[in-house]
Amino acid sequence: PPVGAMLNLDDFERCSKEILTDQAWAYYSSAGDDEISRLLRLSPLLLRTAVNENRNAYGRVWFKPRILRKVGVVDTASKLVGGVVDSALPIYISPAAMAKLGHPEGELNLTRAAGAHKIIQGVSANASVSLDEILAAREEGQPIIYQLYVNKDRSASERILQKIQEKGCQAVMLTVDAPVMGKRERDMRAKGEVVSTGGGSGGDTHGGGVAQAISGYIDPNLAWEDVKWFKKHCKLPLFLKGIQTVDDVVLAAQHGVQGVILSNHGGRSLDYSRPPLDVLIDLRQQRPDLFEHLEVWVDGGVRRGTDVVKALALGASAVGLGRPFLYAQSGFGQPGAERAIEIMRDEVERCMRLLGVTSLKELTPEMVEVLPRVFA
Ligand code: FNR
Repeated sequence: PPVGAMLNLDDFERCSKEILTDQAWAYYSSAGDDEISRLLRLSPLLLRTAVNENRNAYGRVWFKPRILRKVGVVDTASKLVGGVVDSALPIYISPAAMAKLGHPEGELNLTRAAGAHKIIQGVSANASVSLDEILAAREEGQPIIYQLYVNKDRSASERILQKIQEKGCQAVMLTVDAPVMGKRERDMRAKGEVVSTGGGSGGDTHGGGVAQAISGYIDPNLAWEDVKWFKKHCKLPLFLKGIQTVDDVVLAAQHGVQGVILSNHGGRSLDYSRPPLDVLIDLRQQRPDLFEHLEVWVDGGVRRGTDVVKALALGASAVGLGRPFLYAQSGFGQPGAERAIEIMRDEVERCMRLLGVTSLKELTPEMVEVLPRVFA
């Protein structure tokens, strides 16, 4: 089908399932533990696993639209990363590895699409295109946030930090929810060619799936004191990606980071880790003061403009999408990634108008109702 036939982000996913290799589909779509064996036994409606609940959690949040409020013109722009990065939409591309498994241009599709539509791209430490090529594909002033996995060999990570500072990245996302990879059985079973990453991460390549092949260098002994190590070697704003409790947001604030990304790695790390939206709801209820000290971003299961607006109303400053952009570029290259952004722009603007707001600042917790969790 032509890219214009894609009306929502799920359309891209269905398309990808048809065209991707078994290995790429397994790597992109898989999650931890029981996402698949339970699927064989249970109806999908009863399937409560991290990857599904990330999305279902948004179903607990309902809008309280206001009417007769002159919504002809809406503004979706915001300033992120402490006010220094302009973003035309409050969504960003979550760093996800190996875009070339889906399309020969890989991450460059995402860089060019993000540049054309003025949104932030998070670039994975395990990107399949070299960082130099990605940075060279930027438009003038286009923001890139580099996602770091800390290497057991710290000097290797220090070299990367030096490079991204020299080349003008805007911030770093330090991923903290994957000291080891989740057990992704579909990825482990899928047979495919040996993978390589543009970043030269040098993992082992003896079976065990794509994730294992590219993650061997990651240090499982990373600890809070490493925030100091980071600050010594990098002056860029730091976001901790993969925070999953209010207590850890408190610790992050105490360690003086720019922001936190509430995330469970798209359900790919620890199965039954709570949906990031629920952590955001907890944070809003228990420590609303922390939103003044930290920028709170969130990712996982975001597929609709309404999801984005809900997270913003609850206090998030930006919302990340991982798989949808991988799927969009897999099927259609750069035009697919652009179409995905356009779909989100249309859905976010439409949602704001129907909700009776014209700027992101007006999105407040009073505009939504959070229903209690119901257990199966
Ligand atoms: C990821 N994610 C990820 N995160 C990270 O910090 N470094 C990485 O290299 C990757 N790689 C990666 C590969 C693939 C195939 C996926 C699907 C995801 C996690 C990603 O940044 C994000 O947290 C989730 O994808 C968000 O969930 P959704 O939007 O995919 O539901």
